[in-house]
Amino acid sequence: MIELIKRLPKAELHLHIEGSLEPELMFRLSKKNHIDIPYNSIEDVREAYNFTNLQTFLDIYYAGAKVLITEDDFYDLTWEYILKCVENNIIHTEIFFDPQTHTDRGIAFETVITGISNALADAKEKYGITSCIIMCFLRHLSQEEALATLEQSLAFKHHIVGVGLDSSELNNPPSKFIEVFSRAKQEGFKLVAHAGEEADFSYIYEALDLLEIERIDHGVQSIKSPALLKRLKEEQIPLTVCPNSNIELKVFDSYQQHNIKQLLDYGLNVSVNSDDPAYFKGYINQNFINLYENIDLSAADIITLVKNSFRSAFIDDELKQAYLARVDEAV
Ligand code: ADE
Ligand code: ZN
Repeated sequence: MIELIKRLPKAELHLHIEGSLEPELMFRLSKKNHIDIPYNSIEDVREAYNFTNLQTFLDIYYAGAKVLITEDDFYDLTWEYILKCVENNIIHTEIFFDPQTHTDRGIAFETVITGISNALADAKEKYGITSCIIMCFLRHLSQEEALATLEQSLAFKHHIVGVGLDSSELNNPPSKFIEVFSRAKQEGFKLVAHAGEEADFSYIYEALDLLEIERIDHGVQSIKSPALLKRLKEEQIPLTVCPNSNIELKVFDSYQQHNIKQLLDYGLNVSVNSDDPAYFKGYINQNFINLYENIDLSAADIITLVKNSFRSAFIDDELKQAYLARVDEAV
């Protein structure tokens, strides 16, 4: 089974590029850019990665991102993730970035997007990895700030496929961002949002009905509403589930209690993703391996999860069919 997990070509649909910042690169950049970080050693950093909920993680994640200053830093960050894609057999990836985390520190939008997109272009050239970029609005900030970010992004629209919504979920419901999502839709962006990670399933309804999103990031709290489950199944709305993240952030107490198998058995379109792999002890293969070792996932389940990620990707139908055929070949 572990051999199958490793050999299957995969797509990743829920990955925050800032969440792939490994402690080694954080240290190198903190020295190069003279940015203080509150750790004395790599071991120190790993010890600090002991979270009790989403917010305790976000505080550390935003502090870590402060070492990213130049275009090369964003290139290196993205390139290191691409090398993990090669290791994990990820052949298509859709990466999130949080422009406000950087522009609020005086880093230009252009610096961030150019570093990331140059690395992704090189990934296509060197490894044939396809990708797209999704810009997330920070939901703990205001809709006005999100609108200003959307405005800034328009000059770089050719690099950005969609918009998303992330950061502190509780008390920052999708309804706070109706106008900016409507504007993004008018601009032709694909729409996704984190919903039902920590907050209840009403956030998933809001994301679907008020923001008109196409994919739900996380969405595991849907289990509490039979009516919502029925709708997610009928409409085959993708849920980009992140098992390691859910365990590390205490959304579930253990892998045994994770509900991905129930969601899958119910016929929902769920996939497996790594969210912030440098912080959550592993990349996509490790997420699958942890599930396999802890819950009763069959080979057929793993293949369905992998195929769902390709089915739900923002790629044209021809490429989708070609990737699904590659999964079948590997099987
Ligand atoms: N930003 C990075 N990872 C996140 C997550 N799991 N939930 C919300 N915001 C995030
Ligand atoms: Zn996320």
